[in-house]
Amino acid sequence: MATIELRDVIKSYGGAEVIHGVSLDIADHEFMVFVGPSGCGKSTLLRMVAGLETITGGDILIGDRLVNALEPRYRDIAMVFQDYALYPHMTVRENMAFGLRMRKAPASEVEEKLAEAADILQITPLLDRKPGQLSGGQRQRVAMGRAIVRRPSAFLFDEPLSNLDAKLRVDMRTQIKRLHALLKTTTIYVTHDQVEAMTLADRITVLRNGHIEQVGTPFALYERPANLFVAEFIGSPAMNMVKAYYVVEGDRAEAVIRDDLRIALPPYGVQNGTEVVLGIRPEHLEPSQFRPHGNAMTFPATTKILEPLGSDVMALCELSGVELTARLTPGRVSRSGESVDLVFDTAHVHLFDAEGGQRIEALGAEAA
Ligand SMILES: Nc1ncnc2c1ncn2[C@@H]1O[C@H](COP(=O)(O)OP(=O)(O)OP(=O)(O)O)[C@@H](O)[C@H]1O
Ligand SMILES: [Mg+2]
Repeated sequence: MATIELRDVIKSYGGAEVIHGVSLDIADHEFMVFVGPSGCGKSTLLRMVAGLETITGGDILIGDRLVNALEPRYRDIAMVFQDYALYPHMTVRENMAFGLRMRKAPASEVEEKLAEAADILQITPLLDRKPGQLSGGQRQRVAMGRAIVRRPSAFLFDEPLSNLDAKLRVDMRTQIKRLHALLKTTTIYVTHDQVEAMTLADRITVLRNGHIEQVGTPFALYERPANLFVAEFIGSPAMNMVKAYYVVEGDRAEAVIRDDLRIALPPYGVQNGTEVVLGIRPEHLEPSQFRPHGNAMTFPATTKILEPLGSDVMALCELSGVELTARLTPGRVSRSGESVDLVFDTAHVHLFDAEGGQRIEALGAEAA
């Protein structure tokens, strides 16, 4: 088991810097997810931790040991890739045992660890098959089996589920979560799927353009995104974003979206007239009958496009010329063009500075 620490890590390819000084502490047993759009540097960071990529600047420590110049095989980590990287000519058993045999582990130990890993991953019946005779999900489990037989001090996953179909991806996600609950091995898991990030992570690191935007628990990122980028990235469907002005009149504060669309707000520590972006998650817009509520304001809206998901209906609604997505209960709305009264739960409104995109906290919210 091990902590992993990145200290001001920089990576350049040729003259181009792609990781711009990333610092991060990952605790022993922690499941850390790196998430962010394509090209933001997730794989590069992971590969530097693994030792598959040199680092241009800064330090990487695994279990308090400086590993900057240490070869991958001495770092005591195991990596699982998207493409499994199994040896096609070897059986599952041979694939899984390969790392241990290379390290000259005694045959009895190899047998014991292999049986245990195969049992955890429910692949015992597949041990004598070759990778070509397995489904995608089974191959992915073998790749994980190969990682866990070694009992490394950390697992590194790079988009391990992205080649699987949607249902299998959900099954494997549960498997990985169960595996982590059982082994508690420190893990870094790279994905660009924010649902995977939310469901697996103890903490999430949101990356953009080679730097960290925010680090926190899934709940913290969801409830208090530090900026517009994180707010738009975390949550599905995405948070509604509406431009407005923050206006104070006497002891009343409002977000003025249009003259006829004003949302009462608690006081914020910004100047009267500041241009802001108001963020409202789809689940915080509901038809009025459902939430008679102290902090609620009701506005007449019209449904435009309905997306029934079974448990909810995503409804794109128009409200005085502004389009917002609302997560509605099935049966509340039945067609586009229907009138609904939408309730804004102002206790759940997020406010961002329109210029820099940073989150603005309501006065007193910091202490809460
Ligand atoms: N060998 C390389 N030479 C030059 N540039 C590279 C190299 N590898 C990666 N890059 C650049 O570094 C940046 C980060 O790439 P990286 O592969 O880490 O992104 P990523 O977040 O894993 O993206 P994806 O989600 O698409 O896998 C990108 O701009 C990429 O073009
Ligand atoms: Mg990648």
